[in-house]
Amino acid sequence: MTVELATRILKADPEAIADAARCLAAGGLVAFPTETVYGLGADATDGEAVARLYAAKGRPAFNPLISHLPDLKAAQALAHFNDAAARLAQAFWPGPLTLVLRKRTDCPVSELATAGLDSIGLRVPDHPVARNILTALGRPVVAPSANISGHVSPTDAAHVMADLQGRIDLVIGGGPATVGVESTIIACLDEPTLLRPGGIAREAIENILGHPLRVAPEAQNPSGEEAPLAPGMLNSHYAPRATMRLNASDLRDGEALLAFGAALAGRASKTLNLSERGDLVEAAANLFSHLRALDASGARAIAVMPIPHEGLGEAINDRLQRAAAPR
Ligand code: TXA
Ligand code: MG
Repeated sequence: MTVELATRILKADPEAIADAARCLAAGGLVAFPTETVYGLGADATDGEAVARLYAAKGRPAFNPLISHLPDLKAAQALAHFNDAAARLAQAFWPGPLTLVLRKRTDCPVSELATAGLDSIGLRVPDHPVARNILTALGRPVVAPSANISGHVSPTDAAHVMADLQGRIDLVIGGGPATVGVESTIIACLDEPTLLRPGGIAREAIENILGHPLRVAPEAQNPSGEEAPLAPGMLNSHYAPRATMRLNASDLRDGEALLAFGAALAGRASKTLNLSERGDLVEAAANLFSHLRALDASGARAIAVMPIPHEGLGEAINDRLQRAAAPR
């Protein structure tokens, strides 16, 4: 399922930026510099583009991604800013700060990008190339660090090429990233909480808030993206109310069906298909929205057909197992 792409690399100039925006708008994957590290961008509102991004990074699981915006106004269209969030945004944006906020109900970011959560991570980067691309596209861009999952984050276009050549469409080179570590992540859902230490020191944030910052236990052990820092701390994996029966080969009374490929015969209370043609990229893009819709239909149980354990199937199965875990 991995298609070898002819990855182009361009020096950041107005033409390259227009090219990057066009490529993102068409569902492509574009690496670009930010002040922290190079990000691998996809149109946040395009579920299949986001699914291809997880596949390109080889992520074994769907962690929620940060949506990048050109300014505060664009960010306010996606999420609710409480008082602390507004003060932090005012003080540190543009810059290496990510805020995790309550998502607006009309937020156009795909469910896959937020891993089905009701919260969303937002950042306004302080790098002219990143901001010009975001402004030209006019849509939010998800951008994890532009490396293969488990490798160190890239601070130069050459690092990006070393990891992702053949897996993405375009790399925009803009010199070395100056901060060199990822953004600091603060959740402003209730009490402001440090989820990941990063480019802005805790003291600087406490200065603005006027009190010590609560620190998530996982944030005291800074590590790579593979540690399920933020989601683990918030204990907020998306979980349906209905019970889930995985690898179903038949349908039982009153069950809703989450199908993959040719749907099981039998009468389901409601059926949604992750991908009729058995495409794992399409299935990943539909996963959280279909689960939500089946759950909202009021079914007591959801039967889920088997999903192959290859490519994105690994991450899909990971999320299904979490959703099915007894609570
Ligand atoms: O500096 C950065 O933040 C870089 C540049 C490219 O902007 N991006 C980056 O993204 O580090 P990534 O995907 O490697 O890290 C995103 C982190 C993950 O730890 C994820 O769990 C957390 O953000 N996160 C995103 N949305 C979240 C949410 N709704 N709730 C909790 N954590 C969230
Ligand atoms: Mg990373």
